[in-house]
Amino acid sequence: MIKVGIVGNGYISVSHRKTFKELADEGIAVEVVAVADIRPEFTESCRGKERIYGDYRELLRNEIGNLDFVDICLPTHLHSPAAVEAMDLGYNVLCEKPMAIDTAAAQAMCDAAKRNSRLLMVAQSWRFNPDCGIMRDYVRQSKLGRVKCAHFNRNGGTPGWSWEGWHFDKNRSGGAMLDLHMHDADAMNSIFGVPNAVSCAAQSNWPGSGYDIGAMIYYYDGGVYVTSTVDWTTPHQKYGAASKVIVFENGYIYLGAFGDKRAFVAVDRDGNEINLDTPHKSSYYYEMKYYIYCLVNNKLIDFCRPEESMDSVRIIMAACKSADLGGERVTV
Ligand SMILES: NC(=O)c1ccc[n+]([C@@H]2O[C@H](COP(=O)([O-])OP(=O)(O)OC[C@H]3O[C@@H](n4cnc5c(N)ncnc54)[C@H](O)[C@@H]3O)[C@@H](O)[C@H]2O)c1
Repeated sequence: MIKVGIVGNGYISVSHRKTFKELADEGIAVEVVAVADIRPEFTESCRGKERIYGDYRELLRNEIGNLDFVDICLPTHLHSPAAVEAMDLGYNVLCEKPMAIDTAAAQAMCDAAKRNSRLLMVAQSWRFNPDCGIMRDYVRQSKLGRVKCAHFNRNGGTPGWSWEGWHFDKNRSGGAMLDLHMHDADAMNSIFGVPNAVSCAAQSNWPGSGYDIGAMIYYYDGGVYVTSTVDWTTPHQKYGAASKVIVFENGYIYLGAFGDKRAFVAVDRDGNEINLDTPHKSSYYYEMKYYIYCLVNNKLIDFCRPEESMDSVRIIMAACKSADLGGERVTV
């Protein structure tokens, strides 16, 4: 039985719990046995089923030797302090994205994993999504020829649910750029690699929130570029929440959702379409299954390495720097 301790039992922990249950129903023996949340009302429903703590440090200090891994679902500024302390105490760590509030904090996590020989993975959900895998294959296998450019867009869904409104505090979330754009920045990193440079225009919508709206151009070798937009000022995700287009020499791929409609197609230069849409489970399912597989089989994480997650933080730090400089091109 794989025993898990969740720290931070808010919004995203619901998806994690659902996924652990899904895996358990499939015969993968995984169970949440301990939970910590600073708001007692957020652990009330776990009473009698799990060991309950308040601050995450209480759980870490009391569960040594009892858990196979700690699942960090805390606000972003606490990811690195919690992960480093956990690994120094001997825990393996699965940590929500973004890895950390900045690259120095992300580096501290990589160092702690090495120092303690612990299994650290950042839950970069989108790179685990089978749709992302299909895009990676098209690019890596040049199925429609050489890539010319790509456009990754994501808007909507103001995160009004968060504890003390931490999402709207730049020092705790890194703003929409680090929080929401991370999904596309990491998908881009996993499909195309780390870009050479970035230009970014961005705006702030609420005092102290950092950048809430942004438009980026990421530059790669050979004139290839990826444009990307992020915006969490629109209240819901009903219209055009996310779309991805990759333009190749001999056609393009389109992935998008509009209302309850979805399209994922490859179109060749003659306009012939191949439907790429396949039924699949949530991204969380694949990321958790992979982490547990590596843990149980004593394998190193080689698909979503901590260093790659740190690169995704670095990419976004460069975009924010470019926005600070009025859109100047900044080396990543
Ligand atoms: N992968 C995804 O699709 C996805 C989606 C949403 C959020 N996230 C990430 O998950 C993380 C959490 O976001 P959320 O939306 O669940 O936020 P949230 O505010 O809903 O949940 C965070 C929880 O941490 C608790 N907390 C705060 N300080 C604590 C402490 N010292 N000890 C114990 N508990 C503490 C809060 O009470 C809260 O319940 C963020 O990093 C966010 O970026 C990822």
